[in-house]
Amino acid sequence: MNILFVLILCIILYSIFDLIKKNKKFSKNDPPGFKVSLPIMGDLLQIGDRPHRTFKELEEKFNKGIFKLWMGDIYTVVVTDVDMINEVLVKKGNIFVNRPSVNSFNQWSYNGRGLVMANDNEWRRIRNLVAGAFSKTKVSRISGLIEDQTRHLINSLNEHNEKNIPFYPKALLSKFTLNVIGRLFFSKDVCTDEDIAAVENQTKRLIVPILKVFKTLGIGHLDDFISIIYPFLFLKRKNLQVSIDEIYDFMKEIYFDHLKNIDYENPKDLMDILIIDTDGKDEKLVVHTAMDFLLGGSHTSESTMQYFLLKIVEQPHIQKKVYEEMISVAGEDCKFITLDHCKKLTYLNACIKEVLRMMPITPLSVPRVNNEDTEIGGYFVPKGTQIIPNLYGLSNLAKYVENPEKYIPERWLEPNNNNNTNISPSTDKYFNNLMKVSVPFSAGIRGCPAYFLAIDEIMSSCSNMVLNYTFESFDGKTIDQTEVFGLTVYPKPYHLKINKRN
Ligand code: HEM
Repeated sequence: MNILFVLILCIILYSIFDLIKKNKKFSKNDPPGFKVSLPIMGDLLQIGDRPHRTFKELEEKFNKGIFKLWMGDIYTVVVTDVDMINEVLVKKGNIFVNRPSVNSFNQWSYNGRGLVMANDNEWRRIRNLVAGAFSKTKVSRISGLIEDQTRHLINSLNEHNEKNIPFYPKALLSKFTLNVIGRLFFSKDVCTDEDIAAVENQTKRLIVPILKVFKTLGIGHLDDFISIIYPFLFLKRKNLQVSIDEIYDFMKEIYFDHLKNIDYENPKDLMDILIIDTDGKDEKLVVHTAMDFLLGGSHTSESTMQYFLLKIVEQPHIQKKVYEEMISVAGEDCKFITLDHCKKLTYLNACIKEVLRMMPITPLSVPRVNNEDTEIGGYFVPKGTQIIPNLYGLSNLAKYVENPEKYIPERWLEPNNNNNTNISPSTDKYFNNLMKVSVPFSAGIRGCPAYFLAIDEIMSSCSNMVLNYTFESFDGKTIDQTEVFGLTVYPKPYHLKINKRN
């Protein structure tokens, strides 16, 4: 009785203090936000299962380019205005360079090891090494290995066609992207067997845990936000740990294999470069960086390719136009679209850009935190605030893009779309200025390091798929394109009917 009474009293007192804390202003110039934030939950109940869409709607409601909310115990500022996002990512890039400390992210990264979650000097060191290795290997190796994997992808499609198996894009495209990362980072295919059934099994060894991790690391993990429930969600954390351990064990085998065979004078891949830099003494740093690449490099490009297929199935005239452009660039007899051809495929490029505008695959980027008190667009932001760049909102607001909900690749081909001449008087200077408002890879010193790689992968695979096949809905029905939200967004599983071109 007494214990129960004390417990209830503690909860009431905690809630009162928390209510006061969450509704107190930090300054006279805080960003707009909800009138009242609840104790414990803060504003979490307002967010729903697709936060990027909610945040876009909230931006339309507050209409200041920025708003604040309490995600449980985490004070958060969501930024959607084009100039304010630029201020965060570029102008004040050094103030907003770090990642916030979030329980599930900490669990993934063993408290900030690897590249994606590292902060301060450790981040700078790994980022420099990775950037250097990317540029060194880029010219000579990356194009070749992307084209190799594209050939494997088309072979697998051919097998599907010959055996009359429905094409399930996720399996083959995941295999494609994982193998590109595998080759680049540790000179190995992640999935080697060409037999389709076996490929799907091997792929599952990584794809299933990666998918689980992706889903969990997105917004929606309650104990990331509410500290008092952290001890009670032990089982959920344990499940996440099982997936993380599966990926870690996979990578650890490769790490020790590299350590045994390394040639210090001639590093052959990114893993060798990191092993040399750490003198072979920091397994966690190297393995976690490799895991980050698997995580960052597989699902992102793959989901973009999946959305491209969905769009061209939905609008067959676009599919036809993509094919016709390729034939005009590479000739009727062309058997393979190279990355050199891709540079001339302006319409296909516009199709991919339009997919990334409508559905930037990391719609809320990866959160940042500010290392000092500062301002965004004149609004006060205290040190330690979680900052969410709302990339989805930015490229989907009607004040920035005409008919944003429509998939119109042609909008990227309009001659004036980048030089501010197409300005509607009712909107601001960024209206239809697509290059400014569509930044799916983020920007500034911590923007995606693999922009060129990702675009090459997507162009190579999408062009060659369309060169060889036509795609349509498996049962003739419209395919549900509603996205599932995690750290990235991705479509629900779907199958396609493929027809070989003559
Ligand atoms: C369509 C494809 C992709 C998109 C839209 C995308 C987008 C992004 C975004 C928005 C970020 C957050 C940057 C920030 O905090 O400002 C990011 C970070 C990152 N991406 Fe990508 N990405 C893609 C493909 C890839 C690929 C293929 C790789 C690996 C080969 C990769 C590796 C990474 C890494 C390692 C980071 C963390 C960088 C850091 O924290 O310094 N991404 N990406």
